[in-house]
Amino acid sequence: MNTKIEFIDLKAQYTALKESINARIQRVLDHGQYIMGPEVRELETRLEEYIGAKHCITVASGTEALLISLMALGLRPGDEVITTPFTFVATAEVIALVGAVPVFVDVQPDSCNIDPSLIEAAITSKTKAIIPVSLYGQASDMDEINAIAARHGNIPVIEDAAQSFGATYKGRKSCNLSQIGCTSFFPSKTLGCYGDGGAIFTSDDALAKAMREIRVHGQERRYYHTRVGVGGRMDTLQCAVVLAKLDSFDWEVEQRIAAGKRYLELLSAIPSITPLAVRSDRTCVWGQFTIQVAGRDSVLEKLKVAGVPTAVHYPVPLHRQPAYQANCRISGALTNSDAVASRVVSLPMHPYIDLATQEIIVRAVAGAVAA
Ligand SMILES: Cc1ncc(COP(=O)(O)O)c(C=O)c1O
Repeated sequence: MNTKIEFIDLKAQYTALKESINARIQRVLDHGQYIMGPEVRELETRLEEYIGAKHCITVASGTEALLISLMALGLRPGDEVITTPFTFVATAEVIALVGAVPVFVDVQPDSCNIDPSLIEAAITSKTKAIIPVSLYGQASDMDEINAIAARHGNIPVIEDAAQSFGATYKGRKSCNLSQIGCTSFFPSKTLGCYGDGGAIFTSDDALAKAMREIRVHGQERRYYHTRVGVGGRMDTLQCAVVLAKLDSFDWEVEQRIAAGKRYLELLSAIPSITPLAVRSDRTCVWGQFTIQVAGRDSVLEKLKVAGVPTAVHYPVPLHRQPAYQANCRISGALTNSDAVASRVVSLPMHPYIDLATQEIIVRAVAGAVAA
């Protein structure tokens, strides 16, 4: 009963999938095409089918996926991009990298996703994109956001789906809910590789062509550069790892959803914690299983003593980060973002977590919030 609780158990996953992962890696070692080998296109085709978008462009990371998307849309210095301050820094970082200004709009306190009712007030003639983040594994209110974007001259909407790969929204897959969807294959993500990786999804042919060129230094063919690009390819070995994991991904998503349900049931006995509100028209794949508590720092300390690993996603909203404070525009009050940033705690979550472990964790949470 004294086994160590893992926050994310990549070892259990590797043990389960060892044969196919090793075989896939060996195949790449045998053919030796480490950059743009056959696994790259094979993965893109498989992911196009899985997500339902016309094009998948694999890239070096989730950050690169967002950056290449903004570059393909032709973002220029001085443009504005509306997003949430309650996200991983990469969402705003890419906006700053193209010289544009992140415009922060508050989140809903129960889903922690951007509040669509506040977006319209943030739109100006400089608004060139909206980046909703499907935080913790649950899609944002994409239909409402797409409708607002359409009303204002078809502002491009990029879903930052780094944490929600595998989730559904009204029966459709996250990454295919707006003009562009971006995801990450960082090892801890729902579909992770063994290094850095990411993908962009779109059904727009012209954008897909631009993205493919930007990914490889803006070249249309070797050494003929039609636009400014980046070195943004996902390498063949990482594509091979994702291909090996893809076969059991649906099963893993089911396990995540079941584990999330078990947590919600167990935690319902503790009135002082607030779990994430999952909307009835979508599934959450629990990229993070995050709850809100009062007195967060003392809860974290007590959970550490109890042997429960935790994380805080994220302690400081981006409008309060030194790098962005002076380089952003704040639209309306960001009170919910400030409040949730002071209350969130992520608990261990992965497809291989079992009921007994979750019971131990929830008992520790009950003790930590009661003390
Ligand atoms: C919401 C969000 N956006 C973007 C990223 C960036 O992805 P990557 O780490 O693959 O660059 C992440 C991953 O950490 C993320 O969680």
